[in-house]
Amino acid sequence: MTKERLSEIRAAEKQSHEEIYSSTELFKEGSWLQKPVKTVLDILPLLTEKEYINILDLGCGIGRNCIPIAETFINNCNIDCVDILDLAIEKLYQNAELHKVKDNINGIVSTIEDFDIKPCSYDLIIAVSALEHVCSESAFTEKLNEIKNGLKPEGIVCLIINSNVTETNKNNGELLQPHFEVNLTSDKLTNILNDTFNNFIKLKETKIKQQYDIPRLDKTVSLSTDVITLVAKKQNNN
Ligand SMILES: C[S@@+](CC[C@H](N)C(=O)[O-])C[C@H]1O[C@@H](n2cnc3c(N)ncnc32)[C@H](O)[C@@H]1O
Repeated sequence: MTKERLSEIRAAEKQSHEEIYSSTELFKEGSWLQKPVKTVLDILPLLTEKEYINILDLGCGIGRNCIPIAETFINNCNIDCVDILDLAIEKLYQNAELHKVKDNINGIVSTIEDFDIKPCSYDLIIAVSALEHVCSESAFTEKLNEIKNGLKPEGIVCLIINSNVTETNKNNGELLQPHFEVNLTSDKLTNILNDTFNNFIKLKETKIKQQYDIPRLDKTVSLSTDVITLVAKKQNNN
């Protein structure tokens, strides 16, 4: 992808995220921010035995998933929350304050690709609709390896990634260039995930087709995607 195309996608994504983050209340009905992702919540019972829980949320947004996690483990967790947008982290702290979990949240303004995941640091790493926005396919595979190494033994990874994305202008049927920095076929993505996490115990693996409309400047875009979910646990000997 050219530098110009990357800047174009990032500017458009910044605009659309800033619009929704500044106009929408977290957990209020009517948008994708209305509730946490069930796949993430379903993992939490698996962590209850731990004395202290270190968590990483890559592309955290305004806290849709990390705030409910912090509420669940308010006495024994820290969550490093990474997002490219200042506004996301600003709103994340406001929401954390509102939900009384500010002490559990460590907001970091950074790209995912520039955030260095230290080996053997986390009990849970989540990335919901975020990893496909790193700057290149090589940055994507590098980050997956960092995630694998960044988990402690028995640590859990939860990835939700769009693949096979197509975008169409609803007004005239024109096929558009998707606003995704990394847009792998679902087969390729599944193979990369299987290779990277081959020694992990798989807890959930799904591929779900989704289609929805998104407003963009002068047009409505119909987006079609195969959403790949992987939840997997690192084995003790990994
Ligand atoms: C679709 S939103 C999902 C937010 C959150 N994970 C959730 O489920 O509510 C994607 C988020 O990733 C952030 N993002 C996009 N590209 C990024 C990058 N390269 N590095 C860090 N964050 C990024 C966006 O600013 C946005 O907040």
